[in-house]
Amino acid sequence: MMKEETKVWSAEGLIDSHAHYFDSRFGGEGDHSADEILSREVFGAGIAAAVNVATNPENALACIRQAQVYSGLYAAVGIHPEDCKALGDADEEIERIRVLADTPEKRKKNKIIAIGEIGLDYYWEPYDKARQAEFFEKQMLLAKELGLPVIIHDREAHGDCFETVLRHPDVTGVFHSFSGSAEMARELCRRGWYISFSGVLTFRNARKVREVAQVVPSDRILVETDCPYLSPEPFRGRLNHSGRMVFTAAALAEARGTDYQTVVSQTSENACVLFGLPDKV
Ligand code: NI
Repeated sequence: MMKEETKVWSAEGLIDSHAHYFDSRFGGEGDHSADEILSREVFGAGIAAAVNVATNPENALACIRQAQVYSGLYAAVGIHPEDCKALGDADEEIERIRVLADTPEKRKKNKIIAIGEIGLDYYWEPYDKARQAEFFEKQMLLAKELGLPVIIHDREAHGDCFETVLRHPDVTGVFHSFSGSAEMARELCRRGWYISFSGVLTFRNARKVREVAQVVPSDRILVETDCPYLSPEPFRGRLNHSGRMVFTAAALAEARGTDYQTVVSQTSENACVLFGLPDKV
């Protein structure tokens, strides 16, 4: 009987535009610890760089501390629309983010390359639209002030997210794990935005995301894990890490009718341009 040939893709050179290595699911002992995974499965497997994305002022500190340990790990700091629920006054909370990144020296020392993740989430009820909008709006202004790109979380809030970014033409960045329409993706790209694809692209029911993957120009595509969440097939539901992004990159190549290595070089080059990473990370 013929054995079906299994393709082996190399993680070499890939850049993960969105990861959460401070998440408590990486807090386990041995195999599941963030340090073990980062040294063995991520940088040990050839991943060139990863952006460690904070979701509130507290985990922003953990996120920076980890980035300072690994040369390929960078930090994004910001307040997620879900996290703003449990926080205090918006100006005070955002000030805690601003002080981490308000001088070039601090940005360099803390390895901060973006404001994120910020945005709107109308999926998890109950949500407070006005409060989410206040945090989003004020962090867009912060990004403009600091001259940093943003990482946008948009869940079930496409219209309001699009409308908000249109009001801030001086700020661009990436829509992470994009779930909007192909039409919205096209419009964002025309305005200088990037679209990032996660493991969702490998799911059987991801027809809409595959459509998006077909229309986004090659200088606008990024790949990500959103780890520990959104593991691609065949690891769906399990602990995710940047090494598993090979399956996402392969799905992106297939959807775009191009080869795997082309997707690796395009997405990594785009990540370097957007986040101002050194050419040879
Ligand atoms: Ni995330």
